[in-house]
Formats: sequence, C-alpha cells, structure tokens
Amino acid sequence: TGSKLKRQPGSEKRPWNVHQPDNRCWNNEKCLNVGCSSSEVARVGSLDRLQPLCPVEGRFGGARSQVELPLRALQFKRGLLHEFRKGNTSKEQVRLHDLVQQLPKAIIIGVRKGGTRALLEMLNLHPAVVKASQEIHFFDNDENYAKGIEWYRKKMPFSYPQQITIEKSPAYFITEEVPERIYKMNSSIKLLIIVREPTTRAISDYTQVLEGKERKNKTYYKFEKLAIDPNTCEVNTKYKAVRTSIYTKHLERWLKYFPIEQFHIVDGDRLITEPLPELQLVEKFLNLPPRISQYNLYFNATRGFYCLRFNIIFNKCLAGSKGRIHPEVDPSVITKLRKFFHPFNQKFYQITGRTLNWP
Ligand code: A3P
Repeated sequence: TGSKLKRQPGSEKRPWNVHQPDNRCWNNEKCLNVGCSSSEVARVGSLDRLQPLCPVEGRFGGARSQVELPLRALQFKRGLLHEFRKGNTSKEQVRLHDLVQQLPKAIIIGVRKGGTRALLEMLNLHPAVVKASQEIHFFDNDENYAKGIEWYRKKMPFSYPQQITIEKSPAYFITEEVPERIYKMNSSIKLLIIVREPTTRAISDYTQVLEGKERKNKTYYKFEKLAIDPNTCEVNTKYKAVRTSIYTKHLERWLKYFPIEQFHIVDGDRLITEPLPELQLVEKFLNLPPRISQYNLYFNATRGFYCLRFNIIFNKCLAGSKGRIHPEVDPSVITKLRKFFHPFNQKFYQITGRTLNWP
C-alpha cells in the first residue's frame, strides 16, 4: 500500500456496474434562477423573478451567450468567492456584494469512502452551488452540536442568496442522533447518499485506516482477520467497515424522519467511471438547471480518475488520498462478504428504487 500507482477507472472488475435507467419521478419545482439562461428564466417565471437574474451576469454586464455564462460564473466563483472564503475581504465587500452565509439546502450525508469528496467537488462546478470545503461534523459531534445552529451557519461559505450551499460529512449517515437533529434544522432538506459496492467500500475504508496506522509506524491486522470472525468463520458484523456497508440498516433509521423522496442515491462506482450522467441526476434532484458539462470533467490518465475543469485556466484533481491502491484480499473472503451483503442490498434497492446490480 502507499504506492503512488493509480488505476484506470473501470480497470477493477465491476460486473455489477450496469447502468440502470433512472425511473424516479422528479417533482415539478421550478429551477433556480442562478445560472439560468434568460430563455430558461422566461420559461419558468415572470420578469420580476429576473431580479437578480444571475449575480454574475449582472456584475459583468450585458447578455452572455448560453455557453459563455456558466464559464463566467465559474470564474467568478473561483475569484471573488474564493477570496471571501479565505477571509481576504472586508465586511464592506461582503455587504456590497450581498453575500450571505446560508444553511445548507442539501447535505451529502455519506457514505464514507463512497466518493463523497468527488461528489461535493463536482457539484461545486455548478454556478449555483457553493460547497463548504471542510467536513463540519456539526450533527454527529455533540460538542459542535452544543454550539448551536448559528455556529453551524457561520461555518458555511459566503454565497449569493440565489445560490445553494452544500456540505458533506460522511459520519452523518451512520450516527444515531443525526437524522433527528437535521430534521429539527430543516425537515425538507435534500439528502444525498453516495454508495459503492459494499465490499469494495469496506476495503477502501480499511485501506484508509491502514494508511493512518502505517504513517504512525503501527502494525495493523489484515483485512481478512477483521472482516471474518475467527471463531465462527462468519462475517464479523462488529467490524465498523462491515457495519457501515449495510446501507439499508442506516437508511431505515433516516426514514423515521424523512420520506424517501428527500433522498437521492448516487452510484459511487459510476461516478468514478462516468461522472457526468450521475451529476446530471443530482442536478435534477436539486432542481438546478443543467450546467455541469463534459467540458468540466476530463480524464487524467496519470491520476487514473476524472479531474475537474472550472475554466480555461483553472482545473484540479482530487488529493492523492482519494484513489488509494487497495490491498489484495483473499477471494474467498470477498465472496463471503458479497454473499453477506446481498440480502441487505436487495432491500436497499427496494427502498430506494435504485437498482445497482451489485453481486
Ligand atoms: P478509493 O481511495 O478506495 O479508491 P470519499 O471521498 O468518500 O472518502 O471517497 C473516496 C473514494 O472516491 C476513492 O476511493 C475513489 O475511488 C473515489 N472517487 C470517485 N471519483 C473520484 C475522482 N474523480 N478522483 C478521485 N477519487 C474518486
């Protein structure tokens, strides 16, 4: 482990990764004005809803072509908003630009190692989305939660009122108290869950912990030893990496508070190999006008992953800690785990209406 070698998306066998048509019925809410072309805005509402149409368009002046506008918006986000985030601006500038710190309208609640960072960064390509860069851990950490909702809001990045803020903290998905706490903040919030084939996710989870141990020169057990109970030879459900991958168990807790329509499931395996269609489904779910395009995503062969292109000048790949080489795992253990997860997966497909064809 720890090698810098990067794999090609799809180079691992993903026989379960067969694309499914998305049969969800999207609700009929109107698209946000931010980033809409004027023709789209005209379609969705009367002229007074054009105020302000797009902060970017307004500030750069003049009508922009549909192709140009998103790029302008993105440059603007990279420039001014970036400076705001770093704290290099005065209160006067915040006031002049009508910038605010808004509670999130959508949260990526998990799943750890599902591709939560990639999803957040890719959604941040959208001109109407502003990400909270750090994992805030407000709802899962009692100490943070005790600081109150204003503390949480102040952790949010500056944005225009027409934009939406998104944060991600993967621990939310598995932490008992979180659904109720989020419900108390906003019962109609949109919740994004990005999942990967459960055994792969568990190995990815293990790989991250292993790397941490190695960094501290500590020894660690092999995955096989942790995942399989040596006494019973059955899957060890006390092992956290296994428990986290039983997605349906966690989701059922959330469903005590939120209806299933408020969740959107992102296929994390497909986000690796074919990110755009997954992002387009999220845009729909969030009622955002479609603005993320193939231009914004390019495959980086050295990295072995898709990277992000904001504009002609600025592009970036995720940090090296995303896309680690997984250790070899005994195939019989993999088979045992897949068999174990199978009934939970079936239930998950049934509840969510999204079939992922995992083995
Ligand atoms: P691996 O390190 O197991 O490959 P998270 O951000 O939730 O911790 O998820 C990390 C996973 O995101 C990585 O797991 C990687 O496979 C996946 N991922 C998805 N898209 C990626 C991208 N464009 N660049 C890097 N990693 C990506």
